[in-house]
Amino acid sequence: MLTVNTVKELKSAVKSAREAGKSIGLVPTMGALHEGHKSLVDRCRKENDVVVVSVFVNPTQFNNKEDLRTYPRTEEADKALLEAAGCDVVFMPSVEEVYPEPDTRVFNLGPVAEVMEGPMRPGHFNGVAQIVSKLFMMVEPDRAYFGEKDFQQIAVIREMVRQEGFKLQIVPCPIVREADGLAKSSRNVRLTPENRAVAPNIYRLLNESLDFAKSHTVDETIKFVTTGINAYDAMEVEYYQIVDGITMQPISAWTDTRYAVGCITVYCGDVRLIDNITYFKE
Ligand code: PAF
Repeated sequence: MLTVNTVKELKSAVKSAREAGKSIGLVPTMGALHEGHKSLVDRCRKENDVVVVSVFVNPTQFNNKEDLRTYPRTEEADKALLEAAGCDVVFMPSVEEVYPEPDTRVFNLGPVAEVMEGPMRPGHFNGVAQIVSKLFMMVEPDRAYFGEKDFQQIAVIREMVRQEGFKLQIVPCPIVREADGLAKSSRNVRLTPENRAVAPNIYRLLNESLDFAKSHTVDETIKFVTTGINAYDAMEVEYYQIVDGITMQPISAWTDTRYAVGCITVYCGDVRLIDNITYFKE
């Protein structure tokens, strides 16, 4: 595995692969890698000749300075995981390398970015669009892999790709969960042992709501999940919305869509957890 820290080295590594007619897959990450990331790398490994992984905690997508400061950084462990997973090139740049000058680009990402995480985390999706578009320009991958835990992020990236005219395939990959159902996340390490013990109830309630939804309305299902989670002292639902899985717009009746997905964020202590569940996809 080749570790590169500069854009120049990265470009030269992918250039020789491309000239040799090889397909290139990219897995953008912010490090603190876990089994969820590994599943993206595994899929990328299966579908491409060359696997490139970026490890970069992108400051422009953090609307909360404390979250950026405390974001876990585990460079050596990340390299070991990537090496074992068969990654070919890992890109670990500094902030100055990626942003030699401030990125002033403002993306108009439209309705997919105007709901849920959009208003909750102002500037977040613009920062994601900035870094992901930069990575796409540097690597020019054939395919790029993203986890479905950040469900809305995938819709936003697809919109950015459409607007910018990138020619690549976006490959969404299923959520990987702990044995007790908690969605794997780099932020889980910040949970206190007490809060870690209650956090799996997020998925338990989401999962139980699949059955509940069969005989109840969208609003009743939202209430079922929200009150169930809020019953735990340590947890508070920030939002639970059931949306169309493509447009991200909230639905008010099950018949409003052919693809219904419930998207949730929950404060578990001071850690913000995110998860989602698909009710149906026709
Ligand atoms: O999902 C993430 O980890 C980040 O938002 C991404 C896509 C790597 C961009 O920094």
